[in-house]
Amino acid sequence: MPTDHQATPTPHRGAPRHAPGRRATPRRYLMCPPAHFQVTYSINPWMDPGKPVDLRLAQAQWEDLRDRYRALGHTVELLTPRPGLPDMVFAANGATVVDGRVLGARFAYRERHEEAAAHREWFRAEGFTEIHEPAHVNEGEGDFAVTASYLLAGRGFRSSPLSHGEAQEFLGRPVIGLDLVDPRYYHLDTALSVLDEAGDEIMYYPGAFSPGSRAVLARLFPDALIAEEADAAALGLNAVSDGLHVLLPQAATGLFDPLRERGFVPVPMDLGELLKGGGSVKCCTQELRGG
Ligand code: ARG
Repeated sequence: MPTDHQATPTPHRGAPRHAPGRRATPRRYLMCPPAHFQVTYSINPWMDPGKPVDLRLAQAQWEDLRDRYRALGHTVELLTPRPGLPDMVFAANGATVVDGRVLGARFAYRERHEEAAAHREWFRAEGFTEIHEPAHVNEGEGDFAVTASYLLAGRGFRSSPLSHGEAQEFLGRPVIGLDLVDPRYYHLDTALSVLDEAGDEIMYYPGAFSPGSRAVLARLFPDALIAEEADAAALGLNAVSDGLHVLLPQAATGLFDPLRERGFVPVPMDLGELLKGGGSVKCCTQELRGG
């Protein structure tokens, strides 16, 4: 069962004045083992095909993440990895599930096209009935983040701006389009993370966004945790929160205290091998909401 721990946050600059007691809620996640993980092509600046990947280590790091979720009381479903799809471990990109409705993905790069169908087949086999095959490119939870009030939607590198209207129509949540401007932060989930969806609480790195999008974020989320560049560069925003525990890349040490001050429990993870593909905790984790 999830830890039912009530932390007493101490206020700090930028934190909500009355930070609420935190509570973990059980989640259902979809993950895909990195059995065929490799870096054979480069579709983001983190990927260097010249750098060797230690597959055994990647596997051990991924298993550690899976086991950590289970130890925290969450359910982890598994998608069968397919040969020839080395990025399939980044399961967050395969769909966006809200209220049990599955918005399928359509990948920007040829190398990942077939992953979309693999995800849709999994959902069909699992008995999901509301599955939408999208007309426009969207890379699932890579570019969509869910809070109680909004569907935050990234664009600029991968997901098409046209996918935003499609997502709003199918999921029935108001979409807030956000422009990503730095190629290191090519997906929304590399620059922004939902800490508490019920409370519309997020953390993000402003430098990843256009000035207008920064202003939108500041207006909608005045109490957000603002990440420093060094933590963003360690992919520290690629995090998963269950409402209390925040699993995040271990190198993003500058985020630990601000998270604790808000009453969260940072859970540092080492996914160093998967970082060579440009992904970390969140990229490996798709949340099945209401599924
Ligand atoms: N190599 C993958 C790509 O560039 C990494 C995807 C990371 N996933 C994510 N949700 N940000 O597509």
